[in-house]
Amino acid sequence: MLRVGVIMGGVSSEYEVSLKTGREMLKALDPAKYTAVPVHITSRKELLEGAAGLDFALLALHGAYGEDGTVQGALETLGIPYSGSGVLASSLCMDKGLAKTVIRSKSIPTPDWLCWDSMDDYAPEAVQRLGYPVMVKPNSGGSSIGMTKVNHPQELRAAVEKAFASADGGSVLIEHYIPGQEITCSILGGEMLPVIGIQSLGADWFDYEAKYEQGGAEEQIIRLPDALQEQVQKAALTCYRALKCAVYARVDMLLKDGIPYVLEVNTLPGMTATSLLPQSAEAAGIDFSSLLDEIITGSLRERGGLQGASGEGARTVADTGVKPQGQVKEAQQADHTHQTPQARTVEYGGVRL
Ligand SMILES: Nc1ncnc2c1ncn2[C@@H]1O[C@H](COP(=O)(O)OP(=O)(O)O)[C@@H](O)[C@H]1O
Ligand SMILES: [Mg+2]
Repeated sequence: MLRVGVIMGGVSSEYEVSLKTGREMLKALDPAKYTAVPVHITSRKELLEGAAGLDFALLALHGAYGEDGTVQGALETLGIPYSGSGVLASSLCMDKGLAKTVIRSKSIPTPDWLCWDSMDDYAPEAVQRLGYPVMVKPNSGGSSIGMTKVNHPQELRAAVEKAFASADGGSVLIEHYIPGQEITCSILGGEMLPVIGIQSLGADWFDYEAKYEQGGAEEQIIRLPDALQEQVQKAALTCYRALKCAVYARVDMLLKDGIPYVLEVNTLPGMTATSLLPQSAEAAGIDFSSLLDEIITGSLRERGGLQGASGEGARTVADTGVKPQGQVKEAQQADHTHQTPQARTVEYGGVRL
């Protein structure tokens, strides 16, 4: 049986989130198929010891050393196949500013931004040109940590200092704030799963509490008008490919005036059973356990651990029983067991989901 190590913990600010993801994955891995081994790490070195003897590393990590390509590099060196995107895509997507440069080069809209390496770069007049409000965030952060929405110039300095304080030596992004409808597009095996709309309750953006506290946000599968759906799908898949993502990823966007603005691409998005990508997969008829199967199989193929190189001969989403976009709503109506209370299908009216 395949010995699957669930790598969790890590050294980033997203340690707690990672532990939760890891525990859920361990619960959901099919014992008939895998020998699941928890690999709880709190330092970089522990990965090298913990990974010994594994056939596969299922990454439940987030943030620095996990989502940023370094763990992927270590596992490549050890010759252990791992889940998700490779080294390049992982580190590229971790650098929000650089990823935005690639995204913009493909003519996919992303909010205007500035990227500062230290307080020496502090230039309030450049932010004035960008236009308030702005979001100030660590360039390589996650889980909305160290992030502030700045409405007035006088709040800028404190927000930038706060972002640097949690940036761990990295840079800070100042991004034009888009007052739009937040959506997230999950991609599995190069195909887009049903779109989820996010409505933060009590905050005007998806902050840490909204993300992780019960009732902090309303997340629903949404059905966009066909033309917009097509545009969103094109944006999501273009980013996924341009950034060299593999197996699965989640693209965060904001919709405003019918334009999808890409915020970032997550190469190791939250993976508790109620996280966004699993919810999206569920709406397509893929339960959490099957989703992990898909990820493991797809990753083994990607890493050359299964018959057939990546791409050629690879299973498509169609082979896995995932319903094509157009049938999602019908499929949900036919099978209500796939609807969680948080994942109701609603029409997108441009106002509220
Ligand atoms: N430019 C922006 N305009 C409006 N809201 C934003 C913007 N940037 C971030 N946000 C809000 O902050 C959240 C987190 O931002 P994001 O860039 O996705 O970072 P993280 O890596 O922390 O998820 C988003 O989900 C969104 O609610
Ligand atoms: Mg995000």
